[in-house]
Amino acid sequence: APKMTIPRLYEMYAAKQPITCITAHDALSGRMADEAGIDTVLVGDSLAMVAMGLESTSEIELEDMVYHCRAVARGAPRPFLIADLPFGSYEQSVEQACESAIRMVKHGRAEAVKFEGGRELCPIVERLSKFGIATVPHIGLTPQRQISTGGFKVQGKTAASAKELLDDALALEKAGATMILLEGVPDRVATVITERLNVPTIGIGAGSGTSGQVLVQIDMLGGFDAFVPKFLKRYANILETHTSAIAKYHSEVKSGEFPSKQNSYSIKDAEFEKFTE
Ligand code: KIV
Ligand code: NA
Repeated sequence: APKMTIPRLYEMYAAKQPITCITAHDALSGRMADEAGIDTVLVGDSLAMVAMGLESTSEIELEDMVYHCRAVARGAPRPFLIADLPFGSYEQSVEQACESAIRMVKHGRAEAVKFEGGRELCPIVERLSKFGIATVPHIGLTPQRQISTGGFKVQGKTAASAKELLDDALALEKAGATMILLEGVPDRVATVITERLNVPTIGIGAGSGTSGQVLVQIDMLGGFDAFVPKFLKRYANILETHTSAIAKYHSEVKSGEFPSKQNSYSIKDAEFEKFTE
């Protein structure tokens, strides 16, 4: 399959074919997404929790995200690669956002950067798109703001807040956003926002009316059980299957079943006799 690019994604969008996105955090998870045929891979700051074991995404540093992004880029050369700018790496000024985005593109090999927030991000989106850096603003439920929002809460449940989301999306599109990510938004609100835009929306917990879908890979593989949100569908149970595989290895080493002759290298009898004489 050919390298996924923004024009190809826009063709898919124009043809009303859903765009697929999944997160990855290292070369292996990137490779699996690539070989599964996924259109776009997101190096999301959720890797702070699922890959680094941190309490929240706000703890991760830009350099950690760059490091993981570069690993994913090596493992997943075909999908379009989007990376999160983490909390604290873009809020202070347009200059700070530019510096972080350039670092993510140059050293992380990201093809677009994502950051959380509404119309207040327009100056950043405008500046970056002017310099050819694609942006994916993330609106609705924004985990980086979980302290001020009082946790992970679905957004746009009132007419007024749904209108705010729509206005944010329209402003960000006008500023030059390449795509818009909608998280934790009622399905009918996400559908209206998608219909009003001329750029694709990627949804998570936003129903089936968005232009595409994204899930956190470790979550959809059943590898994270701290909590399971309503929007999540689990397609595997790697905590169970992988843990039991490792447990089997552990017990086979203890019992002497592994390694067998089959898993061992041989030496010719004559050489061995000379060695031990
Ligand atoms: O960090 C992440 O994985 C994300 C997705 C949930 C959209 O931002
Ligand atoms: Na994120």
